[in-house]
Parts: sequence; C-alpha cells; structure tokens
Amino acid sequence: MVQFSEEKLNKVKEIMARYPEGKQKSAVIPVLHIAQEEFDGWLDVSVMDYVAELLNITPIEVYEVATFYTMFNLKPVGKYVLEVCQTGPCMLNGSDGIIQYIKDKLGIQAGETTPDGLFTLKPAECLGACGYAPMMQLGKTYREFLTKEKIDEIIDELRAAAKN
Ligand code: FES
Repeated sequence: MVQFSEEKLNKVKEIMARYPEGKQKSAVIPVLHIAQEEFDGWLDVSVMDYVAELLNITPIEVYEVATFYTMFNLKPVGKYVLEVCQTGPCMLNGSDGIIQYIKDKLGIQAGETTPDGLFTLKPAECLGACGYAPMMQLGKTYREFLTKEKIDEIIDELRAAAKN
C-alpha cells in the first residue's frame, strides 16, 4: 500500500496548510516532489492516485501535472539521473556531443537506465542556466560547462559514492 512516512506526511500537511480550504490543488507540484523523493525517484500511477486522494482532487488532475513537467519521472530511474539540457544555448555549446558521449560511455540511450541501476540519461529542456552551457541537472545540483573530461569525472565520482 502506498503511504508516506510520518515525516513526509507531516511535510505534506504543512504544505497543504499554506493554501486556503478547497485550493489544495495548488500544492500538487511540491507534493509530487516529495512523493518522487519518497518512492524511489519516480511516480507510479498508484503514487499519483495517493497524492490525488491526499489533496482531495481527481487523479487526472495529478496525471496532467506529472506528465507535463519533465522533472517528474513516470517510470523507474537509476540512482543518479543525468538530466542533460538539450535546448538551444546548450545545444550550440555542444550538448549533442555530451549526450552522445554519455550514451556511448554508459551504453544506454536517452531515457534508459544502466543495467546496474546506477544511471539514467534524461535529456531535458532549458534548466535556466544557459550562461553555464552545456549543463545538466544531477539531483539537486547543477553541473556546468560540461566537457567529456568532466563527464568522466562525474561518472567516477558517482560510482565511488554509490559504493559508500
Ligand atoms: Fe540549457 Fe538554458 S538552454 S540551461
């Protein structure tokens, strides 16, 4: 059964309390973030239904939001999600080559996860850091001015972190 931990449920209630009665739908994005964090980095239909129930809105209202924003994962992802920006300014600064390099290095295509469950490659649209192009989001951090060497370093760093 899908259920938030007590800590996360308290956080959800705190967020919902920020909105007037009947306007809990406004909390859907922050609550989906919490849900994604709580339930292995992605949103199963049962999780979205649970969020709808908590917010007292219809499931379709949650699906609409979750499927619109690329920051929400609708299928299982690896421990680390490499969200490489592929929009204009990043593309002009070599994001295509970076994405291809990651594909070759990890042996996966866009949207896929490595067999060891460590990495998912997820091309993304503009992440608002065009001045640091090419860049990617990695969890709560941004990795900027990417080069093949930097990708090597990041992958090594994450592989080492996963062992600890
Ligand atoms: Fe890549 Fe804006 S185009 S961050």
